[in-house]
Amino acid sequence: MAQPIIADLVIRNIGELLTMKGVDDPVVAPTAGDLGIVKRGEVAVKDRKILYVGLKDGGSYIVGPQTMIIDAENKVVCPGFVDSHTHAIFAGTREDEFLMRQQGKSYAEIQAAGGGIVKTVRATRMASEEKLRDAVKRNIFKLSRYGSTTAEIKSGYGLNTEEEIKLLRVIKEVALETDILIVPTLLGAHVVPPEYVVRRHKYVELVARDMVPMVHENHLAIFVDVFVDESAFTIEEARDILKAARDHDMPRKLHADEMADDHGAELAAEMGCVSADHLVWTSERGMKALAKEGVVATLMPGTVLSLGSMKFADARAFIEHGVPVALATDYNPGTCMCPNMLLIMALGCLHMKMTAEEVLVAATINGAAAVNRGMQTGSLREGKDADLLVLDIDTYKEIPYRFGENFVRYVVAGGGVIKAPKVFKKKYFQES
Ligand code: NIG
Ligand code: FE
Repeated sequence: MAQPIIADLVIRNIGELLTMKGVDDPVVAPTAGDLGIVKRGEVAVKDRKILYVGLKDGGSYIVGPQTMIIDAENKVVCPGFVDSHTHAIFAGTREDEFLMRQQGKSYAEIQAAGGGIVKTVRATRMASEEKLRDAVKRNIFKLSRYGSTTAEIKSGYGLNTEEEIKLLRVIKEVALETDILIVPTLLGAHVVPPEYVVRRHKYVELVARDMVPMVHENHLAIFVDVFVDESAFTIEEARDILKAARDHDMPRKLHADEMADDHGAELAAEMGCVSADHLVWTSERGMKALAKEGVVATLMPGTVLSLGSMKFADARAFIEHGVPVALATDYNPGTCMCPNMLLIMALGCLHMKMTAEEVLVAATINGAAAVNRGMQTGSLREGKDADLLVLDIDTYKEIPYRFGENFVRYVVAGGGVIKAPKVFKKKYFQES
């Protein structure tokens, strides 16, 4: 008979264990049944993977002297959050712009006056790799404090081949050092840099013919993304860049319909994007196109709030049209300096009328699907990455209700305990 496996980590006494039924695919219009709730559950971890998840005492693993034990004290355990859209590599801050918006200036006016993305580009180009490395690490740390165990990170503040590659190299270096799963994205097409404004087609060409092939060849990013907006790139320009990505077999994302209905959703569907993001102004036609192609709609209510707007994406309509919805922070220095996925979930309920079940799915398995990692994370099943949270609440229904409080008690990412209360050390090992 095979030797029983000794677990590396066991989480015991789970009051409400949310497995999301262990699925790998995104879920449309989830209800409580889709959360795969186990009352009085237990999770065991071995070699960074989930070894057992289910009812207490149902596993065949054993506990050895080196097994770490976490007592969940009858609270909630759920998959780690997947923040599928961040711009977490940048230098400098733009709090002045945030305050100007409160005085009535628009994002576009601020950008036209030399602020906005290009301001961060100037600061980021001046920053050393070491400084950027520290900044990314600090940002990942912040995201993880609120329960994110996966973070997509876009370049996009370099805006020439050398600088974009520098950013992606730094992201990759940090990714190799952290237990948080990092998904890098090339966003060379964030805006047209000032040195190209009078010959913007040259910049589009540079992204499509230079950056995409080079990034692909050197395995520096998984995704290619483009910002379609009046202040950024047109649909035609975005199509050229996304085609180049497709030619290199690189999966695609799109910043679509953030400030107006630019038909970005339709382009995302046409180009087989994995996700279309923002989607504040998307038409019914756009929603239908996303549903038909199975594109994940990534909605970011923190950005809307930070822009001083109350025009939130119509999450209900996306769900009713059969589109899987993910939630993300959009963490960036211009339009959302909020690393808190718990708050984003609360905003999903409060301002987009999503249910508690929908925001939980949006922050876990649908986020994982938005970064093509549904097989690896986003739900709890034997063999998937051990990415999970112990929350200091009795039921998941308290997540939006307790908005603003950080009730993440433990964060387990890739099997490593990366956040724990101070008392943890005493309880860390089983007394035996
Ligand atoms: O997602 N929309 C484009 N990019 C960011 C803004 C970045 C910035 O303002 O620095 C966003 O909102
Ligand atoms: Fe963004």
